[in-house]
Amino acid sequence: MLKIGICNDHAGVEYKFKLVKMLEKRGVQVVNFGTDTTDSVDYPDFAHRLADAVESGEVDLGIALCGTGNGMAITLNKHQGIRAGLAWAKPVGELVAAHNNANVLVLPARFVSYRAASAIVRAWLDVPFEGGRHQKRIDKIPCR
Ligand code: RB5
Repeated sequence: MLKIGICNDHAGVEYKFKLVKMLEKRGVQVVNFGTDTTDSVDYPDFAHRLADAVESGEVDLGIALCGTGNGMAITLNKHQGIRAGLAWAKPVGELVAAHNNANVLVLPARFVSYRAASAIVRAWLDVPFEGGRHQKRIDKIPCR
């Protein structure tokens, strides 16, 4: 069973709960690393927890939500084992899987509808990584 970790700050709570329901309906096991209220919190506290869980293999993949997605993406991508890709539309969700093989999908909760967010997640999960020239590029990402 696919195991996905999900994290969010206060801006992503509402979509987080809806996405968990959608994913569980698809048979995905979801582990919640986010805050569960709209009280203001600091996104790095949650992004690092999710990144650690993906890097250690505790979960297979991750989804992160904050207002713009940038705080989560910037923090997650500090981890060497993370490729966090920000997606704001379904075709970007497809490409972040096909070209970037993102192991964490980041969503800008304040700038996409829930309908779009759900479509992005489903696209990211359904589209396979193309490998080939994209793998060659991914291999060049780590800092020397
Ligand atoms: C919170 O107000 C907001 O700054 C945060 O959700 C995110 O957009 C940061 O990048």
